[in-house]
Amino acid sequence: MSTIDEIKSRIDIVDLVSEAGVKLRHAGKNYTGLCPFHDNKKTPAFVVWPETGTWRCFGQCNEGGDIFKFIMKRENLDFKEALNKLAARAGVEVPTYSKQSPEQKEAFENLRQLLEDAVVFYRGHLTANADVLNYLNDKRGLTDASIETFGLGYAPNAWDSALTHFTGRGYSEQDLLDAGMISERDSGGYYDRFRNRIMIPIRDEQGRMTGFGARIVDPDDIPKFLNSPDTAIFTKGRLLYGMDRARKAIRQADQAVIVEGYMDVIALHQAGYENVVSPMGTALTEDQLRLLKRFSRRIVLALDPDVAGQKAVMRGLDAARSAMDKEGELAFDARGLLRNEARLQADLRVASIPDDLDPDEIVERDKDEWARIIESAKPIVTHVMETLAADQNIKDPKVKSQIAAQVVPLIEDLPNPLERDTYRQALARMLKVDERALLGTQAQGPSVRRPRGGGQRQIVQKSTPGLAVVSSSKKTEEYLIGALFRKPELLYRLDRVLQEFGLIALNAQDFDHTDHKLLFGLIRESVEQYKSEHYDFVLDAIPDSLEARSEELVKQTEKLEKRDEKLLEELLRSVIKLRRVAAGENLNQLRFLQEEAHQGGDLRASTYTDLVLQHTRLLRDLDMAYKQISAKRLE
Ligand code: UTP
Ligand code: MN
Repeated sequence: MSTIDEIKSRIDIVDLVSEAGVKLRHAGKNYTGLCPFHDNKKTPAFVVWPETGTWRCFGQCNEGGDIFKFIMKRENLDFKEALNKLAARAGVEVPTYSKQSPEQKEAFENLRQLLEDAVVFYRGHLTANADVLNYLNDKRGLTDASIETFGLGYAPNAWDSALTHFTGRGYSEQDLLDAGMISERDSGGYYDRFRNRIMIPIRDEQGRMTGFGARIVDPDDIPKFLNSPDTAIFTKGRLLYGMDRARKAIRQADQAVIVEGYMDVIALHQAGYENVVSPMGTALTEDQLRLLKRFSRRIVLALDPDVAGQKAVMRGLDAARSAMDKEGELAFDARGLLRNEARLQADLRVASIPDDLDPDEIVERDKDEWARIIESAKPIVTHVMETLAADQNIKDPKVKSQIAAQVVPLIEDLPNPLERDTYRQALARMLKVDERALLGTQAQGPSVRRPRGGGQRQIVQKSTPGLAVVSSSKKTEEYLIGALFRKPELLYRLDRVLQEFGLIALNAQDFDHTDHKLLFGLIRESVEQYKSEHYDFVLDAIPDSLEARSEELVKQTEKLEKRDEKLLEELLRSVIKLRRVAAGENLNQLRFLQEEAHQGGDLRASTYTDLVLQHTRLLRDLDMAYKQISAKRLE
């Protein structure tokens, strides 16, 4: 038995959930209670299935999973932390699969210590420099408390002050090089990387030092910001500035706000908006969104109108990936963001900041204005539509078709049919054209993943709350993960066929088991990136806590069907099977909840009626698809 199974077998989910403060009542074979994850004092929409060790909220959350998922959500832990915690409780030992050798760990610790010492060193030089302090206090409006909280410092205007200081204290030149604090001269020898700059310590989400951002003091110096180079512990695309100080606020507000600049993060925190972070001069990456999503799925991008503006939107729309990673240039890549939004099941919105101002200038002008700007954030597609139409004569047929040519491909790329319909209608309304005219446009766009048959989907599955899955289909889940692990490239084709049947793409919610959810996420990620082979990507990305588990799953699928077409068909059947079981179980439970609510005179009974209806339809659609697979030859 795997460690994960061992732990599950020893922990009773009913105990675990009850201990977390949820009062559970018997409801048939199962238990119901008030969902601990969303605010509702009245309706018991939270269900626990003791037999399968799973839970689901049929209310607002529309989410479910196993004990790991429960603890992760309840205590805001990542999988590894949840694993350790539940293992300890179950008295199961977690085998260590560390990719990091003890020597490496020590080396990282050493680097972090050096960087901590550097924070103190630079802070000392700031305290001694009245000019720079005045600049921060008076020109930038930063209080001493903010300067202290964010650990700001100053790197003296000399070639060797850090070098001399730290080599004098026992650090080697190699240490300083590894930490990104010095550079090597072509002629040999070393010099300080940061000179005459305001130093901004960059910490990871756990508050550990990773590197520095450094802003010029002399307006003539370039570049304006110089960051640490990528080091063993500093990877710009993985970190978000301010995350260590923002995580709590993000969770509390259930919203994260992304701005562009370091100084803006500091100014906003000082103004009381602590749920704010920023990337470090590079385009937003999926890793960064993933990091944020651990704390909230509601993410707002606050962009200056220049970046969010028309030019950037256009550029973003056709941006080649490589063009996006340029230092100091933030690209607004609508398509990439939309894809991430769907994949991560996040809620991404865009707020534009008015009057050519930076966020720090906004809060200086009027603190409350910031809240209003964030509140008025728009979904990405709406934002793109509105930006493209701004200052244009949309009565002009040329303009209409230009806008449509840009927006339609974005819309057609959305995985959710209901959203596609909604945005298509909105675009048609905005351009005052017939919706059917827009369907014609998509032929020119680089549209992908569209069902065949001219958009005539026989079965439309609405992805409304309540449709995700609880099931006992562990074997099926294992087979799917194992097979896709070996052949990630089949995922695209699988999604396409599902969509042809009017079903939504395979997603993490289809899996009950947290390990499967996570592994599926990696597989999904692997097919959406271009840097390495899919299989290699997954292997690289697997966290050590899941290494053993993934090996098991791969081993279980040793005798996999060799022919892709056949395999695809098997996978499709498996997905449908998984969803049927889940929909069936959900339906039973929903009928129970419905009945209960009805008897208690609860107004929510009608909500359950809707959900029952949705699930009934879903079951019918799944059955229809199942029958058709046998009849239809897959391409
Ligand atoms: P900005 O130039 O908008 O700077 O760059 P800012 O943060 O508003 O700073 P102030 O207000 O002029 O002091 C936004 C962000 O882009 C990155 C930095 O992360 C910066 O905070 N950047 C900018 C670079 O990485 N390199 C650069 O040369 C410029
Ligand atoms: Mn600024």
